[in-house]
Amino acid sequence: MEQMEQLDRAAGVKRPDHVPADLVYDYDFNTDPEILRDPFAAADRLLAEAPPVFWTPRNGGNWFVTSFDLVCAAARDHVNFTNQLVPKHMKNAMLAQLPPGTATPLNVLPSSLDPPEHTIYRAPLNALFSPKVAMNMKEEIRDMTVDLIERVRTNGGCELMREVTEPLPVKMFLKLFGLPVEKAEYYRDVVKSVTSGNVHDIALMMRNGQTLINTYTPVLIERRDNPQDDILSQMWQLEIKGKPMTLEVMQSYCLSLFLAGLDTVMNAMTYGTRHLALNPELQAELREDPSLIVQMAEEMMRLYSFPNPIRVAARDFEFGGVALKQGDRVHLCLSSADRDPSHFDDPLKFDMTRDLKRHVGFGDGVHRCVGMHLARVELHVYYEELLQRLPPFRLDPDKPATFHGGVVVGPDHLHLLWDS
Ligand code: HEM
Repeated sequence: MEQMEQLDRAAGVKRPDHVPADLVYDYDFNTDPEILRDPFAAADRLLAEAPPVFWTPRNGGNWFVTSFDLVCAAARDHVNFTNQLVPKHMKNAMLAQLPPGTATPLNVLPSSLDPPEHTIYRAPLNALFSPKVAMNMKEEIRDMTVDLIERVRTNGGCELMREVTEPLPVKMFLKLFGLPVEKAEYYRDVVKSVTSGNVHDIALMMRNGQTLINTYTPVLIERRDNPQDDILSQMWQLEIKGKPMTLEVMQSYCLSLFLAGLDTVMNAMTYGTRHLALNPELQAELREDPSLIVQMAEEMMRLYSFPNPIRVAARDFEFGGVALKQGDRVHLCLSSADRDPSHFDDPLKFDMTRDLKRHVGFGDGVHRCVGMHLARVELHVYYEELLQRLPPFRLDPDKPATFHGGVVVGPDHLHLLWDS
């Protein structure tokens, strides 16, 4: 039955009256064959072939915004574009289906809120994930990175995701939160079950989200009763609207942080490493002068931007010359925005001398990534240790990388070889 529903959604819906025929472009962000081969070729194709704001009948009918300027405009316009993706009445209907007595937060905080509510829940997190806090984590991040890279160094090759780039950010995250690092694989699998589901299958997403919440709730309660030196204990000290923290808010915060923090850094590391594997002269340049790694990592973020967050039209309004209707779903295609030739000179060229902070790889507007300082430190340390510890590496020609679509477009695996 569930499979049938998936098929129906993918098959496409009828074009609504307010969508002009010339704005329709058939694109399935979950299964487009080009995404599965090379997600960024698919992003470039959208820029070349589709209108900058287009509608696709796939997955229930969705708008996509692809140009840099319009993506920024939408991300900054929290009046017309809401982050409340699931209307309250639908959420309540879903919750009613869960077993009685299940404690379920209604919100993914702060992601699912709009200002001014969003500001109330976002501001306390900014202090917890400041650049200074991220820098203080640097040596712990380095220890974990070195440990994982050393395990593969003498093997002459590895499947990078399974052996390094998946476990590294997950372990780092669990350590930061004071959760058991040895359960990294288990947490990764639970998060994967949420992030790899069809985003428009709200009921399934909520059921999987509930499993994740059930996994960490005992630890939240434990940290409330026995604070330690970790982020969870610090989060319990936060006050929201002058009132002490509650378990429900903690559960909602953690849902957002887990989903956003676990599935992203690993993708950035893997895309960047793939680029390095294809460009031995860049590897040599960086080994020669590691001070270039910070610039390199930022240009990788631009060239390989992979999250494509969703907004919902809060009312009927015109955007980029297109009439949107209240309730329309709109995907902000960061992958194409950051390769938009009307904004970047020679956008497909890897160029570390650009104005590197002008990309939307971490989003834009009030929802811009709260974990970006931590993510950057993780990336810098990872590239430093990778380049220093491994000899020149290349892709395994017999095992090409594959990718998956979705809101976060990511690699499935990356096989590397080197002469040890
Ligand atoms: C390379 C790694 C990362 C990338 C590319 C990334 C990307 C993004 C993007 C594009 C957004 C904006 C989403 C939107 O507009 O709706 C976002 C938001 C967010 N990110 Fe990240 N992220 C990364 C790492 C992290 C980490 C490590 C954490 C947690 C420690 C984190 C936590 C969050 C949270 C909580 C939000 C929601 C912020 C809000 O709604 O105010 N991210 N991220």
